[in-house]
Amino acid sequence: MKKKRLKKSAYVLISVVVISIVGSVSYYLYNSYVTSDKYLLLEKGYTIDEVSFALTNKEIVNTLLKKDYNKNILVFMKEKYYLSKNLDKYLEYKKQNPEIDNDKIVSIINVGADSDWYVNDIKTDLNKGILMIVNKHHYLDEDYNPDDLVTMPLSVAFKGKKIISEVNEAFIKLCKDAKSENLTIVANSTYRDFNYQSSLYKRYKNNKGQIYADNYAARPGYSEHQTGLAIDVSTLKSTMDDFEETKEYKWLIKNAYKYGFILRYPKDKEDITGYNYESWHYRYVGVEAAKIIHEENITFDEYYAYYVE
Ligand code: DAL
Ligand code: ZN
Repeated sequence: MKKKRLKKSAYVLISVVVISIVGSVSYYLYNSYVTSDKYLLLEKGYTIDEVSFALTNKEIVNTLLKKDYNKNILVFMKEKYYLSKNLDKYLEYKKQNPEIDNDKIVSIINVGADSDWYVNDIKTDLNKGILMIVNKHHYLDEDYNPDDLVTMPLSVAFKGKKIISEVNEAFIKLCKDAKSENLTIVANSTYRDFNYQSSLYKRYKNNKGQIYADNYAARPGYSEHQTGLAIDVSTLKSTMDDFEETKEYKWLIKNAYKYGFILRYPKDKEDITGYNYESWHYRYVGVEAAKIIHEENITFDEYYAYYVE
């Protein structure tokens, strides 16, 4: 009798232990699931595909969990030139301009083209050397002038043109190779100091008005020509204005990057660069950067925001 009671008690005890273990494990599993990233993201409204993509990167998960549901967050994150610091701006810009493509919005925001030019501008970072940026948001001090300027030889430039020596060497090589194909490329306008740029801008403004001037000429302090890294090219026969019609133009479009030069103000990128298309204005950035800019078909402003800044 006593033995039977003992057996019964053992069964009860074992049952209690088993039930407790099963209960605890179930509770633990349930709890782990409802606090998991996957569950929280699904709860927010993301689809299973979006969640699978998000789970590949903890930073993405954290960003999604911090913000209200917005399908555009992941859309922007998949853009090639996405910068996490700009996410809120991309989303706001998309809300205001739903018709604009996402890659365009990323470019606009990255280069600051969403805010008025010459507002919120900053002094450019000179430490970037040949990759320094000068545009309508980044300026040079009035007294800035490059310290290794040389006078370019008459074989590649009009008289008395000055440029940084590294650029001079690259340009001489470029002109020599062009010459071997019977093409003559000449440097027409190169380094310009603050005062020169100031009078040039004033002349444009007086002759054609401020809007025209701002589309074609930089305000003093905002010109790449002051860096000693920019060259306006022409042939011996053409001016800069009809340069686009020449064989030399075509050759440069295809080959300039091999020597470290890029077309600085391309067609259809006016809203990114802030300037009208200039078929003649080349900027030296070195071979490595020029290759990327050429292959990825981006402006220097976009390159700088994504790869340099
Ligand atoms: N034409 C270019 C934008 C300059 O003036 O620097
Ligand atoms: Zn120029």
